[in-house]
Amino acid sequence: MPKRREFIKKAILTGIAAEFGSSISGWSDLLAHTFHDDYGSIPDIDRSDFWAVVRNEFLVNEQLTYLNTSTVGRSPKRVIESIVESTYELEEVVKTGHKKTTLIRNNVAKFFNADPKEIAFTVNATAGMNLVAFGLDLKKDDEIILTKHEHVGGAMPWTSVANKTGAKISTIDLDPTGKTNFDRIASAISDKTKVVVFSHVTCTNGMVLPAKEIAARCKELGVYCCIDGAQAAGMIPVDVSDIDPDFYIMCGHKWMLGPKGTGILYIADRNLNKLETNHVGAYSDSKYDQNANLLELKDEASRYEFGTRNTPLLCGLNTAIDFIEEIGIDRIHSRGVELASFLRAKLIDIEGMEILTPSEGPYSASILTFRIKNRSYQEIQKSLFRKFKIRVRGIYENELDAIRVSCACYNNEEQLTYLAASLNSICSD
Ligand SMILES: Cc1ncc(COP(=O)(O)O)c(C=O)c1O
Repeated sequence: MPKRREFIKKAILTGIAAEFGSSISGWSDLLAHTFHDDYGSIPDIDRSDFWAVVRNEFLVNEQLTYLNTSTVGRSPKRVIESIVESTYELEEVVKTGHKKTTLIRNNVAKFFNADPKEIAFTVNATAGMNLVAFGLDLKKDDEIILTKHEHVGGAMPWTSVANKTGAKISTIDLDPTGKTNFDRIASAISDKTKVVVFSHVTCTNGMVLPAKEIAARCKELGVYCCIDGAQAAGMIPVDVSDIDPDFYIMCGHKWMLGPKGTGILYIADRNLNKLETNHVGAYSDSKYDQNANLLELKDEASRYEFGTRNTPLLCGLNTAIDFIEEIGIDRIHSRGVELASFLRAKLIDIEGMEILTPSEGPYSASILTFRIKNRSYQEIQKSLFRKFKIRVRGIYENELDAIRVSCACYNNEEQLTYLAASLNSICSD
């Protein structure tokens, strides 16, 4: 709570208050409402003021309607500043800043409710997935379960491992309503299955999967559960101790609003020495003597990190986590849901519109994916950008031929109304 106060205070100090002076009755009012524990009870007027303050924390380019956080998120100005400041700080004394990683790891672990020793820093989500796929020592005919909704970065490492080892991939389709995905995945597990890989939130239609239930079933059956959380981290609350998967993979540059080139890999305590290390070096060891051919790796996930890294990027990630915490991840989640529902209502009447994101609460969050009859995703994506400067992502995965819209905390109703009007215009051409 005190952190949230600091955030609003900072906003006031930077002069943002002046911009909203006419729409709220005063800052003390705003503070009283925005710090109410029950988000749902905040009156609408205060809600939009609150999100306008949040939006102002970002570099906003009014010429561009950016609705593609699922690919890369915008970073708040303070994240960019943190990268620059820590770069200056370290360059002045010409240091790597490695010691800072301990504090940052603690903060990351707290945010996801993990033990710091379960957290490894990677450069992106794909790197985390490769680490798991190549570390699991899969053998010929071992079965890997994947879904048809995985991102190339989540699936390709497994294809590569399967091709090298003779392990077999079994790909299952998901239920577009979201309702039977637990059954679909659980019933696909056989006595040959070694690992189940799925996205917590799919990059295709933004469907939320019952991660905790699937992880529990995997544990019960003695199968590894590897969750791709690239779209979930920063969009919905993620508590890895509660979900309890074997591996949970994330990146810092989407909904986490952190720097590009940051990734987080959670490895459950019980698996810390189950993944083979294909790369080692300075910082991955607890004991090393070249002459004695002695190498003992750290008994923690940081054994998968090695050599000099770009510490300022981790400082930026740390600032991004503080920023999300100041607003509150529950509040960011609710806002994403609110914006996606707002957009759904605007799109539903467009002729030929088919919305591919489940409409029911637990199965969707801040992404809305749709397609329009007789219009390819390429045509819509191109027209939206060329004519209206709206950036969304085309979805070709699983042959969906659709458009994905991401509703982040810096987006607003005005942008979504503009998107709906632009789509109407494209459809009437
Ligand atoms: C579900 C999912 N997994 C993995 C990735 C790859 O992420 P990165 O670029 O951090 O490797 C993405 C990127 O969009 C994604 O959506």
